[in-house]
Amino acid sequence: MDKKVILIAEDDSRVGESLRLLLKKKGHEAVLAPNGKEALQLLRHDAVDLVITDVVMPKMDGIELLEAVKGLRPETEVIVISAQGTIEKAVQAMKLGAFDFIEKPINPRVITLLVERALEKQTLILQNRDLRSKLEDKFHFKNVIGRSEKMVKIFELIRHIAPYDSSVLIIGESGTGKELIANAIHYNSPRASMAFIKVSCASLSEGIIESELFGHEKGAFTGAIASRKGRFELAHQGTLFLDEVEDIPPATQIKLLRVLQEGEFERAGGNKTIRINIRIIAASNRDLQEAVKEGRFREDLYYRLNVVNIKLPPLRDRKDDIPFLVHFFIEKYNRKYHMKVKGVSQKAMNLLTDYEWTGNVRELENTLESILVINNPEAVDVQHLPPEIRDSKQKLEVIPIKIGTPLEEVEKEILMETLRMTKGNKRKAAQLLGINVRTIHRKIEGLEGFDEASRASNGAKAKRVAKSRTR
Ligand SMILES: Nc1ncnc2c1ncn2[C@@H]1O[C@H](COP(=O)(O)OP(=O)(O)OP(=O)(O)O)[C@@H](O)[C@H]1O
Ligand SMILES: [Mg+2]
Repeated sequence: MDKKVILIAEDDSRVGESLRLLLKKKGHEAVLAPNGKEALQLLRHDAVDLVITDVVMPKMDGIELLEAVKGLRPETEVIVISAQGTIEKAVQAMKLGAFDFIEKPINPRVITLLVERALEKQTLILQNRDLRSKLEDKFHFKNVIGRSEKMVKIFELIRHIAPYDSSVLIIGESGTGKELIANAIHYNSPRASMAFIKVSCASLSEGIIESELFGHEKGAFTGAIASRKGRFELAHQGTLFLDEVEDIPPATQIKLLRVLQEGEFERAGGNKTIRINIRIIAASNRDLQEAVKEGRFREDLYYRLNVVNIKLPPLRDRKDDIPFLVHFFIEKYNRKYHMKVKGVSQKAMNLLTDYEWTGNVRELENTLESILVINNPEAVDVQHLPPEIRDSKQKLEVIPIKIGTPLEEVEKEILMETLRMTKGNKRKAAQLLGINVRTIHRKIEGLEGFDEASRASNGAKAKRVAKSRTR
């Protein structure tokens, strides 16, 4: 075990010194300060595990020191030494959060025991906190899956901006994880232990959104039988998540702007100005710039919200993430439903990866949940996939080739069209064509000699004739 550091505040140097020696003999590091003020100075600079303080001291007494310690480092335990006639003070100290008190003259056996108990309690608290922060990590960031370059960049950005209070605007299609990211930012910020309050702006009608956001006073309108705090007040010192922010009506946008600029507002029907300290994270499915251009969204508000901009790419633009998400969700639902689904066959995984996922991660998650619940398979295979996914690969693209076409030309056509289908991914094209990557590179080099005009016309032709056949 590490040496524990104990700070002794005692103006009677004889008592202090003998206590210091005693604790040293017990294997601790003990430092002596002649009064509360100097003790506090030491405490500011060094990590101290335990404070033992006399009550009556010049400059700053033991009670004041106790209060200061609890304010500065609440987890630090404090043992109070009371002399005769200061027992009332000792009682007061207990109320202020002292671990225990001991009366003078100090009995070595009693103080040793108290010290051990206090240190033990402190170790437990720290272990607990460590555990809790690990859990929070797990639940608020580690559960955001993303290995694609795009997502890794976004995670870096989040780590970078989370500690600051600046507003964040998250843009992404439905189901891309906007709310998850908003959560991650909050739980990785210094506001993590305060409230995270969500407002779905689209679900609130124009009539009630203001009272929801800003609260109201009793009698502000018919039905306002009691005054009520709005979400802004509830989020005080924490984070307010404005989901579907583009749906905030214009009149409310002005008030929102004022809160963002000045940190203050009034409840509906009230005239007391309320000051708050919040961080705003807003999210939208659509690019807000469009709404600004169309005059539906105030430009000044847009700039206030858009201090940090996070664009979440749709799942189809980060297919590398799909296998990781698939495994993550299988694990998740295995746990939830007490199943032991092992994984996904290669064929099924290919289909899952190729699918367009217009509903993004949410659609992928729901699909896997329903596969598990309906089939509880040993491993997910092609037959478990819903038809639209199973059949998507069978939409084979076809190039009609005239009988008698020179083989060289056939090869060129098939190579170019395959590359088009894989969006230029040579490795994938090579895989589909059953050749190795080096060969495809060599063949493409050959194509480069191919003149641009014929390539373009080939492309156009392919578009004209490409047909999709559903099984
Ligand atoms: N990167 C990810 N890793 C793990 N789960 C994810 C990820 N992205 C999204 N999800 C999951 O997908 C579901 C949808 O995510 P979320 O609600 O955050 O999306 P959204 O962008 O807010 O969607 P909407 O615009 O429809 O409100 C949630 O269950 C979420 O946990
Ligand atoms: Mg959402």
